[in-house]
Amino acid sequence: MNTVLLDGFDISSDGVSRAAHMLSRGAVVAIPTETVYGLAANAFDADAVRRIFAAKGRPQDNPLIVHISSIDELYPLVTEVPETAKKLADAFWPGPLTMVLGKSDLLPDEISAGLDTVAIRMPSHPVAREIIRLSGCPLAAPSANISGRPSPTTAEHVVNDMMGKIDGIVMSDNSSVGVESTVILLADGQKRLLRPGGITLEMLESVIGEVDVDRAVLSSEVTEKVSSPGMKYKHYSPSTNIVLINADSDRYCKFIADKVDCAAICFAEDAAMLSCPKIVYGTSADQYTLAHGIFDALRRVDTLGVSCGYVHAPDRSGVGLAVYNRLLRAAGFEVIDL
Ligand code: TXA
Ligand code: MG
Repeated sequence: MNTVLLDGFDISSDGVSRAAHMLSRGAVVAIPTETVYGLAANAFDADAVRRIFAAKGRPQDNPLIVHISSIDELYPLVTEVPETAKKLADAFWPGPLTMVLGKSDLLPDEISAGLDTVAIRMPSHPVAREIIRLSGCPLAAPSANISGRPSPTTAEHVVNDMMGKIDGIVMSDNSSVGVESTVILLADGQKRLLRPGGITLEMLESVIGEVDVDRAVLSSEVTEKVSSPGMKYKHYSPSTNIVLINADSDRYCKFIADKVDCAAICFAEDAAMLSCPKIVYGTSADQYTLAHGIFDALRRVDTLGVSCGYVHAPDRSGVGLAVYNRLLRAAGFEVIDL
């Protein structure tokens, strides 16, 4: 398939209206968002949605997020908008927050993989919102990576994974947040964090009070009901074996010192103490830098020609919880506590 590269650096770029036109006619097009790049199609078009699954090699039982550009678009897609959802939308939309609500019959079953709920998000990236608005339909969009690979945070990552598999790629800036959106289940009076992201647990709780954290967030266990089907798959994995290390800087660097054939995926403050190949993914003083850098680091480690990458794990508070959650999966739950 011929994949066209479209210019999408700002909302008036030609690629933006062209992408919207293609999407309105059933195409699958990768678009930038503030979290990661998404692989978009008209959410009302079951055929186009099936082509997303095929391009990614995504299991059919893993539902997609529907992206909207204004709050009015939410109401027809869901059976009910609870008070908790209204409050969270007021506080955090547009932005990196996805709310799981009762699904209306307007959306095809392919979107929700047969569940009676649907995940909805209003992105803050101006190009993403303009493409949704101009296409005239909500857009279903998972992350634009091959299933199982690290999520794409640059246009180049998308080109590497999707060239020849989809109709177009909107080339834009690097994703600012760098990890996928926070997913919270709000259907049937629940308040359950299914996937941590840029909107932190602390931020959610400041608006709607106590939020349950699904067990799948920090373990390989998945609840019987599979509250977030995506959590059960091996994820974000480079070819290099990844191991997560919980330690302070000193212990982390000493641990790596006698290892061979390995690389460090570390904090800026570790770098001077390490003599092995290394990739700095941010600084622990600002966890948003770690979120921003982690997926690119997981892709780059494969270019170093080592068999193992030891990642210095972030603190699990704030956005660190989201980074830790992704790293656990990249490491296949292989963790060393020092
Ligand atoms: O930031 C993001 O959310 C990005 C950008 C493109 O918006 N999208 C994204 O989509 O990360 P994806 O498909 O890679 O992840 C969607 C997650 C999966 O873990 C999936 O299982 C969960 O949301 N999900 C979707 N619909 C759900 C539902 N009805 N109930 C529970 N979990 C759901
Ligand atoms: Mg994904």
